[in-house]
Amino acid sequence: MASVTSLSDNVQQHLASALTATLPEAAGADPLLRRSDRADFQANGILALAKKAKANPRELAAQVVSRVVTGDVIQDVEVSGPGFLNITIADKAITENLAARYVDETGRLGVPFAEQPGTTVIDYAQPNVAKEMHVGHLRSAVIGDSVVQLLEFTGENVVRRHHIGDWGTQFGMLIQYLDEHPHELDHKDARVTGEEAMSNLDRLYKAARKKFDSDEEFKTRARRRVVDLQAGDEHTLAMWQKFVDESKIYFFSVFEKLDMEIRDADIVGESGYNDMLAETCRLLEESGVAVRSEGALCVFFDDIKGPDGNPVPLIVQKSDGGYGYAATDLSAIRDRVFNLKANTLLYVVDARQALHFRMVFETARRAGWLNDDVTAVQLAFGTVLGKDGKPFKTREGETVRLVDLLDEAIDRASAVVREKAQDLSEEEIAERGAQVGVGAVKYADLSTSANRDYKFDLDQMVSLNGDTSVYLQYAYARIQSILRKAGEVSPAAHPELALHEAERALGLHLDSFAETVREAAAEYAPHKLAAYLYQVASLYTSFYDKCPVLRAETPAQVENRLFLCDVTARTLHRGMALLGIRTPEKL
Ligand code: ARG
Repeated sequence: MASVTSLSDNVQQHLASALTATLPEAAGADPLLRRSDRADFQANGILALAKKAKANPRELAAQVVSRVVTGDVIQDVEVSGPGFLNITIADKAITENLAARYVDETGRLGVPFAEQPGTTVIDYAQPNVAKEMHVGHLRSAVIGDSVVQLLEFTGENVVRRHHIGDWGTQFGMLIQYLDEHPHELDHKDARVTGEEAMSNLDRLYKAARKKFDSDEEFKTRARRRVVDLQAGDEHTLAMWQKFVDESKIYFFSVFEKLDMEIRDADIVGESGYNDMLAETCRLLEESGVAVRSEGALCVFFDDIKGPDGNPVPLIVQKSDGGYGYAATDLSAIRDRVFNLKANTLLYVVDARQALHFRMVFETARRAGWLNDDVTAVQLAFGTVLGKDGKPFKTREGETVRLVDLLDEAIDRASAVVREKAQDLSEEEIAERGAQVGVGAVKYADLSTSANRDYKFDLDQMVSLNGDTSVYLQYAYARIQSILRKAGEVSPAAHPELALHEAERALGLHLDSFAETVREAAAEYAPHKLAAYLYQVASLYTSFYDKCPVLRAETPAQVENRLFLCDVTARTLHRGMALLGIRTPEKL
């Protein structure tokens, strides 16, 4: 069995059985175990239980203590304050637990799988066809990718959906223009780059828009094209497909730069639900969930009102018969629930779309598509701000292109790597620069809780000190260099050795990796994992300052400390991978 019971779960079980033996009615109660500064753990749950049982809390605590089995894991337990329990873990147990994680041949560090995994459909990384990607798309991709890794790590069945914006009236204009200028999307050479694809699209978009605004006859032709597109005219659809294909070349190049795997089969854009739209409307109208109002098909909500006090409806079908964003999302829900058999629908989308999702989810609930067994959640993220605290814009007031920003991060990171590099070739500097730069951008995004706005500050992001991915990557690389220097001597656990305070602190924290991952996955909160990893690196730094590794007193101690170093490295590597960040072996 590869999965390891963490020390805190183990202590939890010890306390729970002592508690039930003392107070049978407390069976199943939570002893409220926490890490503590005074001892290794503190349990605060007895206070409330004593109150309920009308008992003296200190006396109850003393009775529980007398029943706790000490020895193997719990070295010492005592009552403190009004009825808390202070628990000290045996050094031996710390080392043994880490050793069990270390030998887990699956590389999971003994982290167990969820007992009852479900199916989650996650909607993330959804840019728009024929448009530049901006920082908002970055957030969705980075947060979504990490949540995918976290959920899959716990054993959840995850289906990814990239709901790209590939439908809408602007395509009438674009297609008509391309039809009249057929070679605009041709490529100069066979190896098309993402940048070339984007500049083609950009040029075509601008030219089409110019003609649309200045030429009435073109405008009429463009409008007719929208109708053709919606009617499924073959030639028009083929033209539309060209835009989608060209955009995908660009998207894939950006995702590659982001060091992120996005699969073509998971890209199901708005157009993918066209065949369902009419039926979605019919179902909503027949069940009375939606009603006709001035020709449009609408859903009303008691608590959603506009500034004039009138209810704001969700418009499922416009009065001219056209379908919009809401009809598509409602159809996607039906697909995800009934075809993909999801238990959870997760949407990693900008907080500014919160009202849309509130209305869409409520509509789906009324229609019976969502219920207690199938839930939908928007993992809403905040706005990316510039250093000045205002929404991130270029000096000219335009939205910043995602690629420019990544390139700049990579440049800065390469400079940092070059400065510190000792034995790296130019090629290695370029490769590490990319891993450090992209890692820095991802980490800055993931280390703040998603719903908060965050400041995009490249200087801070690539700093070697403080809560940055660079700091974590250097900690990892430093350990690798120690392990290389150890040469013939291999890491090995020696549970019989007494541990230094700094070793205990590091060891206990490493052992709680499983809990952290469980919590971060359950709450869709990568920032909790980021905070944990930062703490790993900090505790490692103080361990390293206080405890000589290669020059420890005895050969056994050298091996044991190398072992602690290696468990730290593996935890950093695993944890960073769950955030989508690389840990280079040498920096
Ligand atoms: N393409 C949209 C945008 O750029 C995001 C799509 C979000 N997902 C969804 N199912 N509506 O804002």
